[in-house]
Amino acid sequence: MTNPEDQAWTIKRLLEWTTDYFQKVDADTPRLEAEVLLAEALGCQRIELYTQFDQVPDAEPVAKYRDWVKRRAAGEPVAYIVGHREFYSLRFTVDSSVLIPRPETEHLVIAAIEACQQVDDRPIRILDVGTGSGCVAVALAKHVESVKIGAIDLSSDAIAVAQQNIDQHEVGDRVKCFTGDLLQALPAGSQPVHLIVSNPPYIGLKEQGTVDANVDQFEPAMALYGGDDGTDVIERLIVQSVDMLLPRGVLIFETSPIIMDACLNLVNVCSEFASCDVVKDYSGHRRVVIARKI
Ligand SMILES: C[S@@+](CC[C@H](N)C(=O)[O-])C[C@H]1O[C@@H](n2cnc3c(N)ncnc32)[C@H](O)[C@@H]1O
Repeated sequence: MTNPEDQAWTIKRLLEWTTDYFQKVDADTPRLEAEVLLAEALGCQRIELYTQFDQVPDAEPVAKYRDWVKRRAAGEPVAYIVGHREFYSLRFTVDSSVLIPRPETEHLVIAAIEACQQVDDRPIRILDVGTGSGCVAVALAKHVESVKIGAIDLSSDAIAVAQQNIDQHEVGDRVKCFTGDLLQALPAGSQPVHLIVSNPPYIGLKEQGTVDANVDQFEPAMALYGGDDGTDVIERLIVQSVDMLLPRGVLIFETSPIIMDACLNLVNVCSEFASCDVVKDYSGHRRVVIARKI
């Protein structure tokens, strides 16, 4: 960020320079990312940048911003740099041990909220398998009254982040964390549940070459890859869910359109499931499976 013309580095100029630089390094959304980083470095809202366009920020936040711009240009996602991401209109702390929450996962939350509306028992017992940042569990705890949610992850580092988000959103009385492999993470004798929700790892290792290089490099492999075809974790989850769901309980999981047919076959060969629906995402891709137990 040299300044050959010796002009002041106003907010406007910083944003224009960075947007141009991010365009050259193929960032996804150059202007937006520049604004998010600068607002975070200055400790203000994005909108406030526009009311201070001609101001020259102090050297210290600008040095921090310059470091962040370099990290972003090297491919690191903005959410990891600033340490948070919005999901379902809630702010979640993230670090490199958890998947960055994606907009398509909001369909999983919407489907789960709708399924909760069909349950008469209280409290509604839910498991969120592969909780990562805890975004799904926390969003459900915030939007459904009288729930008890078990948030499970194989990664203890992810569980530490989930716990931070549970605490920040003050839902610790409704969401408890468990570390371990799928439903085996639960203590022996755990009560069966009304709902199991999951955004499991579902990219096939054989698709790894097609995955965005920055996703592959920066996001945890354990959160992304579900064996050769992407179905390994989902297959085990479907089988284990049968015993943990109450009669008429519902398993709702996110998957990829690439393996959607394989996932539907895995549900259909399980005679304990009575019916199965599919929800499309914002791009029209088949994304979420809703399987209802007999
Ligand atoms: C795609 S991420 C989803 C994270 C979060 N629920 C979200 O939607 O942003 C999948 C999560 O499943 C966890 N995971 C992978 N294999 C697992 C297993 N066998 N048992 C429990 N969790 C697992 C990963 O650590 C990761 O946090």
